[in-house]
Amino acid sequence: MNYKKINLYELTENEGNEIFLTGWVHGIRGSNKVQFLQIRNSGRIIQAVADRQTIGEEEFEKVKSLKQETSIVIEGKLVKSEKSEIGFEIQVNSFSVVGSSDGYPITPKEHGPDFLHDHRHLWLRSKRQLSILAIRNELSFAIRKFFYENHYVLIDTPILTGSIGESAGSLFSTEYFDLGNAYLAQTGQLYLETAIFAHNNVYCFGPTFRAEKSKTRRHLTEFWMLEAESANIGNEENIDFQDKFIRTILAEVISKSVSHLKVLERDPEKLSGYIQKPFKRINYSEAISILQDKKETIEWGEDINAERENILTSHFESAVFIRNYPKSIKAFYMKENPEDKRTVLCADLIAPEGVGEIIGGSEREENYESIVQRLNEAGLPVDSYSWYLDLRKYGSVPHSGFGLGLERLVAWVCGLPHVRECIPFPRLMGRLFP
Ligand code: 4AD
Repeated sequence: MNYKKINLYELTENEGNEIFLTGWVHGIRGSNKVQFLQIRNSGRIIQAVADRQTIGEEEFEKVKSLKQETSIVIEGKLVKSEKSEIGFEIQVNSFSVVGSSDGYPITPKEHGPDFLHDHRHLWLRSKRQLSILAIRNELSFAIRKFFYENHYVLIDTPILTGSIGESAGSLFSTEYFDLGNAYLAQTGQLYLETAIFAHNNVYCFGPTFRAEKSKTRRHLTEFWMLEAESANIGNEENIDFQDKFIRTILAEVISKSVSHLKVLERDPEKLSGYIQKPFKRINYSEAISILQDKKETIEWGEDINAERENILTSHFESAVFIRNYPKSIKAFYMKENPEDKRTVLCADLIAPEGVGEIIGGSEREENYESIVQRLNEAGLPVDSYSWYLDLRKYGSVPHSGFGLGLERLVAWVCGLPHVRECIPFPRLMGRLFP
């Protein structure tokens, strides 16, 4: 018989065909007459039915002895199945083993998070993990598509850098030949700022690094950040654009990920509810008053911690932009607010359900003297910013931008309590392996 080689993303067009599928045994159960194999291919799982009468006594005994994660080849007929999650199943004619598997450590029983993270290289094959990383894939694609369609040019910014992007306190550094220390990029922003003079609207999307000694549920030492920078837009227009960006990509990803959200027991309706109308915008001072009204002991000037961010998103029942934080707790490049010099023109987008800040953005200080003063105040070495300061000498313009943490967005969409499952190989203070 002529079997057609397929993958599990091409089922509809192969209905009724005699097919050839390679995959892994995700699970197996059955009786002495019939065995049901769960076969994984391309991040999807299909049931393959092996019937004693059809495949013969000897082959049937071999099927019964197949172990979890054995890689196999199946030949059989692809048929529609109402009961199946994927809509199809395979009636097996024959099979062969490609690679054996014995004693696979991750079994259907419960395992603790440390055990699972120690086996992350294998855990990626588990059903929930398939869905989380499939949703991450959708988000990454939707992000790139959004920026492409909005005429933003991708600028790949360097990972090894000589200037400090955010703060001196959380730098990974390494020796760099005869040139002293190189730092792993905390942000691509300063390089994006150079590129707006060439392309107006630019973005970067890549790994960034923070040597933060925080063991919270939302900090990684290596995380993926989407950053965008635009010439000639101010803080409010920057917020408008972020609002459109997040609500557009979420709508797209929710509609494409319904089956994955179901695996994660995440209600797509609830998620869609968050993005029906623009996110609320409040000023930092207003946020402090709301918290004080709710009997929180917080003073103007203090940063808003995770718990309090959660109080605010619960109050507004969705994500909320908090604008114009105190200058003293924000980065050197943010533009001073002309209406209240204690604050800067910035906004953080805080996501609900304990996810917290997913975006940090601001209008940038475009004046040469002012930014030199801010660098000095922050105790940063002005010399290593000479190239950045040139931008304020040659055709400086008002400009704004923002950064979105991909893992926190994945956590929000998937309804996960911790960002460590939102990246294939998390890097945490206490984890560098596998
Ligand atoms: O607020 P941050 O530090 O902003 C910047 O780096 C700016 N240079 C961005 C820009 O304006 N171009 O970080 C931006 C976002 C945060 O809102 C958060 O979502 C994420 O990056 N983030 C982290 N995610 C995981 N682990 C960490 N340690 C993170 N630190 C920041």
